[in-house]
Amino acid sequence: MAENGAGNGRAALSLEVNGEGVARLLFDRPDSKVNLLTSAVMAQLDALLGDIEQSVRTGAVRALVVASGKPASFIAGADVNEIASVPTEEAGYEASREGQRVFRRLEILPCPTVAAIDGLCLGGGTELVLACDYRIATDRPETRIGLPEIRLGIIPGFGGTTRLPRLVGLTEALPLILTGQPVASGKARRIGLVDEVVHPSILATRARAAALAGAPARRRKRSVLARVLDDSLPGRRLVLNRARARVLRETRGHYPAPLIALDTLRDSLRLPLDLAFDVEAHAVGKLIVTDVARNLIRVFHLMEGAKKAGPANVAAPAVSRVAVLGAGVMGGGIAHLLADHDVPVRLKDIEAGAIAKGLQHARHLFDRAVRRGRTSRREANRRMDAIAPALDYSGFGSVDVVIEAIVERMDVKKSVLRDVEERVRADCVLASNTSSLSITEMQSALERPARFCGMHFFNPVHRMPLVELIRGRDTGDEALAAVFALARRLGKTPVIVNDGPGFLVNRILSPYLNEAGHLLQEGASVESVDRALLDFGMPMGPFRLLDEIGLDVSRHAGAVLFEELGERMRPAPALAALEGTGLLGRKGGRGFYVYEQDKQKSVHREIYARLAPIVPAVRTAFPAEHIRTRTILAMVNEAARVLEDGIAASPGDVDLAMITGTGFPPFRGGLLRYADDVGVAAIFTRLTDLARALGARFEPAILIRDLAAAGRGFYD
Ligand code: NAI
Repeated sequence: MAENGAGNGRAALSLEVNGEGVARLLFDRPDSKVNLLTSAVMAQLDALLGDIEQSVRTGAVRALVVASGKPASFIAGADVNEIASVPTEEAGYEASREGQRVFRRLEILPCPTVAAIDGLCLGGGTELVLACDYRIATDRPETRIGLPEIRLGIIPGFGGTTRLPRLVGLTEALPLILTGQPVASGKARRIGLVDEVVHPSILATRARAAALAGAPARRRKRSVLARVLDDSLPGRRLVLNRARARVLRETRGHYPAPLIALDTLRDSLRLPLDLAFDVEAHAVGKLIVTDVARNLIRVFHLMEGAKKAGPANVAAPAVSRVAVLGAGVMGGGIAHLLADHDVPVRLKDIEAGAIAKGLQHARHLFDRAVRRGRTSRREANRRMDAIAPALDYSGFGSVDVVIEAIVERMDVKKSVLRDVEERVRADCVLASNTSSLSITEMQSALERPARFCGMHFFNPVHRMPLVELIRGRDTGDEALAAVFALARRLGKTPVIVNDGPGFLVNRILSPYLNEAGHLLQEGASVESVDRALLDFGMPMGPFRLLDEIGLDVSRHAGAVLFEELGERMRPAPALAALEGTGLLGRKGGRGFYVYEQDKQKSVHREIYARLAPIVPAVRTAFPAEHIRTRTILAMVNEAARVLEDGIAASPGDVDLAMITGTGFPPFRGGLLRYADDVGVAAIFTRLTDLARALGARFEPAILIRDLAAAGRGFYD
């Protein structure tokens, strides 16, 4: 067994009974910040439930409270390693049945049971509290309740899929099960998932009182519509059909778990509890062995690994104040992000108008958060006030980090960074948000190059999870540790890379976008290329992405990569020719698509005429498979070079960065995981053929050639 639930002789679970006969079952996994429901913990819970049954019979126990001994953290769910190690469908089914059996034992204890939830309550933790008679949650922001199983490619299998819709109704249960997004305690109370919300200081007292009062379930008022939809067969069918259509639209059928969740709900809701559990367990068994679940679990591990991947053996200097240079698209976004995470920020620009726009952008994002109920008006105003605008360097003497996001010009950046260095403390860390310029080259202008690195956010800053942290030749570990900790604090996924043209993501993306340009020139239509890649699972096609990046920005980045990396990066003529057209992409309302009020309307029909004669007037039908092979293998090939050149430390880093920086489909496990699934030898052959047919840009990378020869994959 992976873990016996005990360390240092302490058990993960303990039971105490007070003078009034209220038993308190406490989860407190030794040597860990969070509680997990490992199979060992489940076995211990089972045994303790046996003791409680006995004590209730003898009258020693009158009621039970379930709680966590961790500060502001309830139960984080099952052990993902155990989920990953389930060998067969049958074993998955059995594991689910066993969890259901233990929680059922809790549910039918002959005494009132109350869950006292303080902090994160996820997966198995939520399924555990669903088996209690009464649930109280605290009102702190950390208290969130959810069923994230879908993100691992499975569904809640310890009774959660069965109990949740019975408690809160199908309509309210669906978003929790299908998105995996946890809800705050206020929302949990509104939908009936918890019965009471209290301040943390009175949680224990309230839980005891509710237990002694017999844990009377609160009656929730539901609208007539909700009752019709949730409680009648035709109503449920309608709700489920709508949900299925939405899932198919959003996932293009790539993810089996949400579809099987809907089937399970359809079949199980009309069954008695025990039969419903059986349907649920069968679904878990079926899903747990799918490739999609395996890949999503791998991605989960990559994400968890990234949290700990900072420079080893260096304590991160504390960061309490940050300055941002440049209040443009990126600077404004970064300032908002900092303020949103309670980091006071000075936002400096050389133009008052730019600052006004930057502040307006931040204000707009805070307003939206208020509108969506994510934060209160008061809180939003408080955070907005954390941004102090400036036209000069006042206050720079007290900042710990400066993030530079000014114009993308080496000479300007160097001279500004030199200025800044003179105005900040000697231990202040400077970071550039450049997307294409050399960090090492910028260091040459500085007195303290060890305290300088790249910190590359992606646009839009509030939405894109990735931050590339770039180590220049002279960057010190302490500077990297500081920006690593800062990125984590901002809720981002940091990936450390070495300096090199386009760093990681933009370098790999460039041949992909370029290949779309070549296809256009050969007569493929914009929509056929984009559709082929949407069907592959990319969040948007390459032409839509070019519009999003900005046609001027992407052309500039492409030119830099061509200059640095040579012939294979030569911009596709159809993309280079956009220069004369004045088209900018989404920000200008027109590019490969037409946009109205920022929304994509249709393909820009004129684009072909504007690019004539480079692009033929007649569109030819290209098989989607051909489009995918060329564009995706172009990325795989460049990713191999990124590894060869030591830009990224591992295939895992490449995959994590591509998933979080470009939305490469997580169900495929990452770009290089996908390459391994296809087989590197097969890829080598395809690339060799493509090089012969289309040109040297497809010449296989040395690493691919070597791996193919050795019969190995990137991850072997
Ligand atoms: P932008 O043009 O929107 O903003 C640049 C701002 O810097 C302007 O407001 C300008 O007035 C200000 N500025 C110029 N010189 C300054 C100085 N000496 N001191 C203070 N402010 C000064 O540019 P954007 O798009 O925000 O890009 C900024 C940086 O971020 C560039 O290095 C760019 O390569 C990088 N980047 C851009 C991304 C994008 O999608 N736009 C994505 C990732 C990085």
